[in-house]
Amino acid sequence: MEAKKRETFSSGLAVFLATLGSAIGLGNIWRFPYITGMNGGGAFLLIYFLCIILVGIPIMISEFYIGRKTRTNAVGAFGKLGRGEFGFIGLMGVLSSLLIMFFYSSVAGWVYSYVFKSLTGTFQGVTSQTSAKIFESAITHPWQPLFWQAVVLLVVALVLILGVKKGIEKATKTLMPVLFILIIMIDIRALTLSGAPKGIDFLINVDFSKVTGATILTALGLAFFKLSLGMGAMITYGSYFTRENNLPATAAQVALSDTLVSLLAGLAIFPVVFTFNMEPSAGPGLLFITIPLVFSKLPFGNFLLALFFLLASIAATTAMLSLVEVPVAYLSEEKGFSRKKAVVVTVIIIMLFGSLATLSLGGNQAISQLKIFGKGFFDFFDYLSSNILLPLGGLFTAIFIGYFINKEDFIKELSNHGLIGNERLGVFLYRILRYITPALVLIILLNSLGLIKI
Ligand code: PHE
Repeated sequence: MEAKKRETFSSGLAVFLATLGSAIGLGNIWRFPYITGMNGGGAFLLIYFLCIILVGIPIMISEFYIGRKTRTNAVGAFGKLGRGEFGFIGLMGVLSSLLIMFFYSSVAGWVYSYVFKSLTGTFQGVTSQTSAKIFESAITHPWQPLFWQAVVLLVVALVLILGVKKGIEKATKTLMPVLFILIIMIDIRALTLSGAPKGIDFLINVDFSKVTGATILTALGLAFFKLSLGMGAMITYGSYFTRENNLPATAAQVALSDTLVSLLAGLAIFPVVFTFNMEPSAGPGLLFITIPLVFSKLPFGNFLLALFFLLASIAATTAMLSLVEVPVAYLSEEKGFSRKKAVVVTVIIIMLFGSLATLSLGGNQAISQLKIFGKGFFDFFDYLSSNILLPLGGLFTAIFIGYFINKEDFIKELSNHGLIGNERLGVFLYRILRYITPALVLIILLNSLGLIKI
């Protein structure tokens, strides 16, 4: 039988936009601002940047290497490198991508529903109290959030069924530029509010008194989540990269652009928080409660608000494409499923467990009372994936590259077999991956699990 030809992205730009589409997501717009808010602002940001440079970028390059070198899914890749026993890293990735999708699709559903709510005038004349009420009832309604979650999953499934070029590439190429334009527009509005100086100050003022071991783990977890690392997404996308792609350069560009978008999101949200005398540490509701206030008193406010949530929907959707692609590539390449069947099966699993996450926030009494290790389903899926499985996946990946891969081979792949001069950078990265990255991740993980004390 003739082997099926595997798809790849069509150009360097397509590679960049698809990978950036994976990185930019609810992490930037929903999560980054509230986590920074809860952890004291500037000092947290500084630790976060260090995590991106010392851990995030080296691991992203490693995942690209594994993917492009083997041109297969996150589980099969380890076998192709002659180290099938490390396939468990890929399987852990498949599990993490599902766990993330269980709660991520729920939040994406809120975002989609907010586009609709803005257009129908729900936020006309809203105050900080009514805005909080609207959010509360949106997430605790017995079936509406489930409906929106299903819409989100349907959109993701339709794009993925179209494949790598016609689905993922086309969607990200069209949507990413729109996202940039929208966020700049919103920033201009937020930065002309009276609370802007305080908002900016909150983001850049470094106060280490709020930093603890848990803060550092949170920053590390956020770095993994933000850059879509430790769960096979970058291995899978890397397997679609072009031969000519400069892997370290792509990783650096993606990490930089992603961080910039997080900062732009912070600059959109914190000025509002301080203009309306709200708490920066409000938690997961921060985005949904503050943003409607920005536009409520403006001409065409409803329309601008809808645009903002459209922006967030775009970000969420392109990120989910990469999350769901991990199990899809695995099922179709390792288990012989057709692409369509793989997408349908994956999405059904996500909807089933994802509704537990959604209903655990109050939509269903019995489900909200169920606790795993003291956490409801939503928080449990989130904590287990972001704070434990992703760092663990990253730790194993760094150890795999640093100790089980031929150094020359790693360097050759990063320099495209001599076509680009990345040899010295390759040696440097290899050393970081061997000595620094795993040590840092291990110390942070053990400390947060209470096994050591720093
Ligand atoms: N990076 C995405 C975000 O910030 C989330 C994500 C995590 C996507 C892991 C893929 C893999 O929203």
